[in-house]
Amino acid sequence: MPQLNEPVLAVRDVHVSYGAITALRGCSLEVLAGEVVAVVGANGAGKTTLLKTISNLLPTRKGTIEFLGSSTRTVAAHQFAKMGLLHIPESRGILRGQTVVENLRLSYDMADGKRSFKDALDEVFAAFPRLFERKDQKAGNMSGGEQQMLALSRAIVAPPKILLLDEPSLGLSPLMVREAYRLLKRLRETGMSILLVEQNVRAALEFANRAYVLRQGKIVQQGEASVLLADEDLFTNYLGVNH
Ligand SMILES: Nc1ncnc2c1ncn2[C@@H]1O[C@H](COP(=O)(O)OP(=O)(O)OP(=O)(O)O)[C@@H](O)[C@H]1O
Ligand SMILES: [Mg+2]
Repeated sequence: MPQLNEPVLAVRDVHVSYGAITALRGCSLEVLAGEVVAVVGANGAGKTTLLKTISNLLPTRKGTIEFLGSSTRTVAAHQFAKMGLLHIPESRGILRGQTVVENLRLSYDMADGKRSFKDALDEVFAAFPRLFERKDQKAGNMSGGEQQMLALSRAIVAPPKILLLDEPSLGLSPLMVREAYRLLKRLRETGMSILLVEQNVRAALEFANRAYVLRQGKIVQQGEASVLLADEDLFTNYLGVNH
């Protein structure tokens, strides 16, 4: 277990390029045990790149990334779930040709679950009755909102120490955004650390404890989420959205 105040995740001075395009230029952030941290920024700021780099889907040019005190640079993508790091990508990370239950079973098997699959499944269906109705349906045939419910349910059947979430509210109706955040609050209450990237700045800042503002691959501001939420200049200068 991490010591109190020892970061679960520490990203230090990370630089990442796609060929000639530099996407992250010296990015540093920390997530402590039980903390919800948001990274907000406009399109192309580097948010997805940051999460992909943390879970070793992209190489760094410079800098270090430590999960529970060890470098993630030598960890294969499929090993992260067992270590307690679950990344739910923008594309949701579900298998479209598999049913709801089959998808959840795969997530369950990838992690080191303590309870039975049946108990885990019961919890998912209690949280999202709609998934129960569609349990034998192929994931690819469900609506975008239902697919996002399924993606988030992976964190119920295989609870990680840290959950990396890329745009959980993307493409969802306001009602579904509330549903998604209702589940995220439940996960937060279990003590799970969450690193969330969002263009839905308001939803992210209302949910997070702390936040970082990413602009053109650099952290330009950081602080208590509630303080950033009240900062009108931040919204107009860095995020390109109206408050
Ligand atoms: N595969 C790639 N090849 C080349 N450039 C890329 C690639 N993926 C991302 N980029 C560039 O890296 C920068 C950061 O992209 P990234 O997807 O991380 O942004 P983002 O903050 O997640 O944006 P959005 O809010 O639109 O999802 C952008 O300028 C983007 O064009
Ligand atoms: Mg993105």
